[in-house]
Amino acid sequence: MQLKKIELARSSIPLYDYSTLASTNGTLHSLILEGCKLPVAVIAQEQSAGRGQWGRVWESRPGGLYLSLGLESNFQLEKALHPSLISGWGVTEVLNREGIPVRLKWPNDLLLEGRKLGGIKIETRSSGGIITQIVIGIGINWRNEVPARAINLKQYPAIASIEQLAKLTIEGLLLGDERYRNEGIEAILPSYLNYLDSIGKTVTVNGLSGQVVGINSKGELRVVLSSKGAYCEISCIPGMISLGYY
Ligand code: BTN
Repeated sequence: MQLKKIELARSSIPLYDYSTLASTNGTLHSLILEGCKLPVAVIAQEQSAGRGQWGRVWESRPGGLYLSLGLESNFQLEKALHPSLISGWGVTEVLNREGIPVRLKWPNDLLLEGRKLGGIKIETRSSGGIITQIVIGIGINWRNEVPARAINLKQYPAIASIEQLAKLTIEGLLLGDERYRNEGIEAILPSYLNYLDSIGKTVTVNGLSGQVVGINSKGELRVVLSSKGAYCEISCIPGMISLGYY
């Protein structure tokens, strides 16, 4: 392991750089338990037990970015979806500024050319009804081989190294965090919606068909159910519906 520093415009962040780990999220939790000050980042060239959403394993072969960022936070539990939204938005925004047309699949999958470029797994620590620390784990396909429904950044030479991708990713996560702290979710939502690929998609909720029309201020997906005559809109949390596997 090497302890490095990521130099940012106005600060620097310690980065624990490993060749192999079970999971960067797991190691970051251990660092927090040992009293490590936040913010801090952990990166690994490969993971043997990368944690994906819904208990899935995240394939983590060399050539991909496997990074976790730990941040102090102050989210009420009813805003538990906000970290997902602002993290996905921040990384998408920064990659778009580099000319990479990344889009979002709600709440925070990164898409490129309609295929999955990366995913985010957020794990939180809370106390007294407040989320006090968050571990944002992000995997982005850079040069690693990917299945047909996924994509990597091979065709995008603007991202020339994994170190550059790691720095941009941290900048994106911090951009989302800072904008949220200063301006709140309402300031981020319009731009988030511009990047959202899910609008207009047909989904099934409890056997009923509906159409995605937006996001509410909690970060839930707004779905209008297809029913003759009556207008019926519902709000969905992740897991209630499937937006398809990319
Ligand atoms: C998803 O399933 O879409 C989320 C995948 C998140 C994977 C990243 S890789 C770095 C970090 N460490 C983990 O164990 N998981 C996340």
